[in-house]
Amino acid sequence: MRNWTPSDIVPFIEMSQDPEVMNYFPKLLSEEESKDFIISMQRHFKDFGFCYFAIDILKNEEFIGFTGLLHQTFESDFTPCVDMGWRLKQSAWGMGYATEAAIECLRFAFNILKLNEVYSFATINNIRSEAVMKKIGMNFVGTVQHPMIVGDHRFKHCVVYNIKKIK
Ligand SMILES: CC(C)(COP(=O)(O)OP(=O)(O)OC[C@H]1O[C@@H](n2cnc3c(N)ncnc32)[C@H](O)[C@@H]1OP(=O)(O)O)[C@@H](O)C(=O)NCCC(=O)NCCS
Repeated sequence: MRNWTPSDIVPFIEMSQDPEVMNYFPKLLSEEESKDFIISMQRHFKDFGFCYFAIDILKNEEFIGFTGLLHQTFESDFTPCVDMGWRLKQSAWGMGYATEAAIECLRFAFNILKLNEVYSFATINNIRSEAVMKKIGMNFVGTVQHPMIVGDHRFKHCVVYNIKKIK
């Protein structure tokens, strides 16, 4: 898990144009939007020392997507907060990578960043994403109409999970 590099641009554009990967988002990302996403992650990493980290499979250094932590300031009952998000290319699904990376993020969040809690949001039908939240011990706290999701109301209704640091 690492900061983003220029070599991630092409594979990230590819996965952001896969309708299966983007099934729970209102639209596919254009090349420009994917590049902007990477720039915003690099900026967040520079400012805070973390972001939605780019992920490589260690044994072959293949970039497979991201899992990480991000400050969320959109307006809701649960923000401002640090949330955990994940998005992998389809060939990497179902192998436990999101779960493995998310557990590492929680360790980082609680032990290094000294956060007291971490949130995660997913569109209400995104069973795979919610399964990751449950598997890593997060608890359901409610639902929210996500104000940052514009254009398609099917994706606005999100479940919210969180996990608190064990003192
Ligand atoms: C969400 C995502 C990151 C999960 O990645 P992953 O590598 O498949 O996750 P894991 O293998 O760690 O765990 C997925 C879990 O979901 C479960 N799952 C998968 N499909 C499922 C289904 N249809 N019904 C119920 N559970 C399902 C798997 O069984 C697995 O749990 P298990 O290990 O206990 O069997 C991946 O599916 C993805 O990138 N999706 C597209 C982007 C996205 O929607 N991101 C989240 C936005 S909030």
